[in-house]
Amino acid sequence: MTNESGTQGSVTPAGHYFSPDPQVQSAPSQVELALPDIKLTLGTDRGVFAGQAVDYGTKLLLLDGPEAVETDSVLVDVGAGYGPIALALASRNRNATVYAVEINSRARELCAANARAAGLDNVKVLAPEDFPPNLKIDRIWSNPPIRIGKKALHELLTLWLSRLGSEGSAHLVVQKHLGSDSLASWLETQGYGVVRRGSRKAFRLFDVSPNK
Ligand SMILES: C[S@@+](CC[C@H](N)C(=O)[O-])C[C@H]1O[C@@H](n2cnc3c(N)ncnc32)[C@H](O)[C@@H]1O
Repeated sequence: MTNESGTQGSVTPAGHYFSPDPQVQSAPSQVELALPDIKLTLGTDRGVFAGQAVDYGTKLLLLDGPEAVETDSVLVDVGAGYGPIALALASRNRNATVYAVEINSRARELCAANARAAGLDNVKVLAPEDFPPNLKIDRIWSNPPIRIGKKALHELLTLWLSRLGSEGSAHLVVQKHLGSDSLASWLETQGYGVVRRGSRKAFRLFDVSPNK
């Protein structure tokens, strides 16, 4: 069952879901990612984002985001967590390479195990600092970590958006009450083109491109 309110508002019992090295006791569990074209059972845990259900915003992004990409594309899930976005992208785009970038080591381990279990060998799970510095990105997909704070979020987005190729784009889902519209306005002030792809329930989906 999905969490319809989204889980950005919560922290894990012993700290934030974006801790690089969660200290909360592990309690592995499984969640179902059920989309019209994909059914995956994914391992998750305490100490990671959405440890009990696929986040509703994540599910909307996967339902309403853009179609498959060209062969050999470089796709990046910024803040991949246990991997629902990265694995769905890898499943839909078998000839693309999907980089699942995640700061939380427990989430990275889960994401890698989930990709192995699903036979998705086109997923590469990395800490942010291990991303190849000169690799241009075709598409970024992200349910970004709003809870890290505005300054850190702006720095995170500035870094990853600067890695997009000139034809690249980013697809973001953000809860309205967590500042989706002010984030869109800020992106525009930074020179990015922002198109509202959709709005459902408490969420907005944005397409962001380097050129207005
Ligand atoms: C809202 S969660 C989304 C997780 C997953 N994509 C999902 O949909 O369930 C955002 C994720 O970003 C991660 N994160 C926070 N700061 C980060 C950073 N600087 N670089 C990469 N990931 C980060 C968090 O640990 C968290 O897993």
